[in-house]
Amino acid sequence: MSKRFSIFYSLLLIFFGSSALFSPVTSDLAGDRQALLDFLNNIIHPPSLAWNASSPVCATWLGVTCDGDGTRVTGLHLPGTSLLGVIPPGTISRLSELQILSLRSNGLQGPFPIDFLQLKKLKAISLSGNRFSGPLPTDFATWSNLTVLDLSVNRFNGSIPAGFASLTGLVSLSLAQNSFSGEIPDLNLSGLRRLNLTNNNLTGLIPRSLERFGISSFSGNNLIYDTAPPPVDSPPTEKEKEKKKHGIYISEPAILGIAISVCFLIFFVIAVLIIICYVKRQRRKETEPAKLKPAEKIPQKLLNEKEVSKVAKEKNINIEEMEEKSEINRVMFFEGSNLAFNLEDLLIASAETLGKGTFGMTYKAILEDSKIITVKRLKDVVVSRKDFKHQMEIVGNIRHDNVAPLRAYVCSKEEKLMVYDYYPRGSLSVLLHGKNGDEGKIPLKWETRLRFMIGVAKGLAHIHIEHKLSHGNIKSSNVFMNSEEYGCISETGLAVLANPVRRVDSSARQALRYHAPETIDTRRSTPESDVYGFGILLLETLTGKSRMDNQEEPTDLVVWVNKVLVHQWTGEVFDLELVKTPNIEAKLLQMLNLGLDCTNRVPAKRPEMLKVVETLEEIERDQLLNH
Ligand SMILES: *[C@@H]1O[C@H](CO)[C@@H](O)[C@H](O)[C@H]1NC(C)=O
Ligand SMILES: *[C@@H]1O[C@H](CO)[C@@H](O)[C@H](O)[C@H]1NC(C)=O
Ligand SMILES: *[C@@H]1O[C@H](CO)[C@@H](O)[C@H](O)[C@H]1NC(C)=O
Ligand SMILES: *[C@@H]1O[C@H](CO)[C@@H](O)[C@H](O)[C@H]1NC(C)=O
Ligand SMILES: *[C@@H]1O[C@H](CO)[C@@H](O)[C@H](O)[C@H]1NC(C)=O
Ligand SMILES: *[C@@H]1O[C@H](CO)[C@@H](O)[C@H](O)[C@H]1NC(C)=O
Repeated sequence: MSKRFSIFYSLLLIFFGSSALFSPVTSDLAGDRQALLDFLNNIIHPPSLAWNASSPVCATWLGVTCDGDGTRVTGLHLPGTSLLGVIPPGTISRLSELQILSLRSNGLQGPFPIDFLQLKKLKAISLSGNRFSGPLPTDFATWSNLTVLDLSVNRFNGSIPAGFASLTGLVSLSLAQNSFSGEIPDLNLSGLRRLNLTNNNLTGLIPRSLERFGISSFSGNNLIYDTAPPPVDSPPTEKEKEKKKHGIYISEPAILGIAISVCFLIFFVIAVLIIICYVKRQRRKETEPAKLKPAEKIPQKLLNEKEVSKVAKEKNINIEEMEEKSEINRVMFFEGSNLAFNLEDLLIASAETLGKGTFGMTYKAILEDSKIITVKRLKDVVVSRKDFKHQMEIVGNIRHDNVAPLRAYVCSKEEKLMVYDYYPRGSLSVLLHGKNGDEGKIPLKWETRLRFMIGVAKGLAHIHIEHKLSHGNIKSSNVFMNSEEYGCISETGLAVLANPVRRVDSSARQALRYHAPETIDTRRSTPESDVYGFGILLLETLTGKSRMDNQEEPTDLVVWVNKVLVHQWTGEVFDLELVKTPNIEAKLLQMLNLGLDCTNRVPAKRPEMLKVVETLEEIERDQLLNH
């Protein structure tokens, strides 16, 4: 039999060009599906976690995410799902396209699941908070794409493998709270940004390559720090001598930086946990008679440390239980987004507050696979859930170079989150005025400003004409520089969904400046009122001023520009950076006049955005011809 069969199989193999028949490595969705079922059927799990073999894997299976076209499983997220026992070998390791694996906070035990090393596409893995024990493998060469490795809070022992050095893409490494012993190997991982080796049994010196991480990354071990005298009875080794020369230097700013990032992370995680907690509760209560709405109990100041940690402590018991059901974790993605995550990922994501917007807080979050996203949390949503989703579908399908794409959203009973790309250069407001003083402020060249405004104008024209939408919230902190250095508009279509957060601080007054006079009372935005907002943006770009800084009662920018023009002090209107540029006076004046046209008090007299685009492009063309 053997010969004929092997020929037959060889032919088959050549025919299909695939090794699937022989190797346990599967290469299609059916294979992934079977691998997942094999995993679940061979591990102790609660009845609530039951993947339905007859329903689609990518769309319905709890904790499973797929690639964009739904052909392979790329993510498995089962945190806090009460999985118990040893991971059956040869199951998860067959998910050959797996990129993100989180088995955090379960009751998994046994040695390090060595077959996971076959997952060559893996970008992030968390086995944190289980009962894994024994030593780690020595060779990690197959994980060349790994960015996040979290093995913290387990019972691993032995030494930290020098083989970690081959994890060249690693951004975050946590081995905290295990029983690792011996010396820390010299890991030349230049991309590493977060390291946590706390609470082990490590000895010796901190290797030079890791000195840049502060003491807080190493506490709770038996390490010799530079500050402590070396043991008297043993003469210093070569390594120690070298160490002494260089010292361990942790600057105060570094410590402060670490402290601040940790604080941000904790606040954000707590905030998201609270959100989930309340939403869950609300769900449970849906069948009960209406009681006090959970939203009313959410602390208004979400980032108030004391309040939040108190609430979090009270709710702590529920968190694991809550993670079990994950319908709430469903994030709706739009086509073309190559993101794959759920709310759980946002929990592990490190995040910082970017700012308080008109409609709520904005965060910058770094996902497990080190992608950076912007998360916006809407407050005071005034439309029904159905209308909200409808609007999200409309906005999510706008694809234009000058409109910041909505990548995904979360719409649960009480919480509305939106996910956008992250624009590293910041908003026009930051570029022009800096944030917290002059941080981020750069001298913007005339060409850059012109291009930026052309982008913004095109984005607005596009949504006015193609989508019959008005924006309603054009302002310098809402427009960003895209990768081609053109402007692009964010927060499209949000103005109709939410009431502005009621604030009386300066940024709220700032926002009012962009509102056309006819909308101050009605708050109804129209294409004409967008043109007004754009006009203010244009004046702001030309003058470099968002308001008259030296006056108590800030004067309207339009009034000021008009006044200065009447007195023929044109030179004083423009930003110094622009005045320095030779031969552009005529164009500056042309643009200034366009700004004034756009801010005409009479809506009907304002030009349409398409006309604005034409005028600006004309100015750009002239500019190119004259060079
Ligand atoms: C599994 O899914 C099928 C089709 O989606 C459905 O008819 C069936 O009731 C489900 N079974 C269970 C046990 O939920
Ligand atoms: C690592 O990632 C890159 C880009 O994402 C990809 O081209 C490459 O194939 C990956 N390596 C492995 C071993 O999968
Ligand atoms: C690691 O722990 C196991 C028990 O889990 C023990 O048998 C072994 O000796 C330990 N190894 C080291 C190096 O401590
Ligand atoms: C560390 O790695 C970088 C590239 O990743 C390499 O250029 C450098 O020579 C290495 N340094 C040492 C001391 O091995
Ligand atoms: C740490 O290591 C020392 C010896 O290096 C040993 O005596 C001690 O028991 C260890 N502690 C733990 C918690 O493993
Ligand atoms: C390290 O990890 C432990 C346990 O997960 C955590 O409590 C601690 O805050 C972390 N420290 C740093 C500096 O990240």
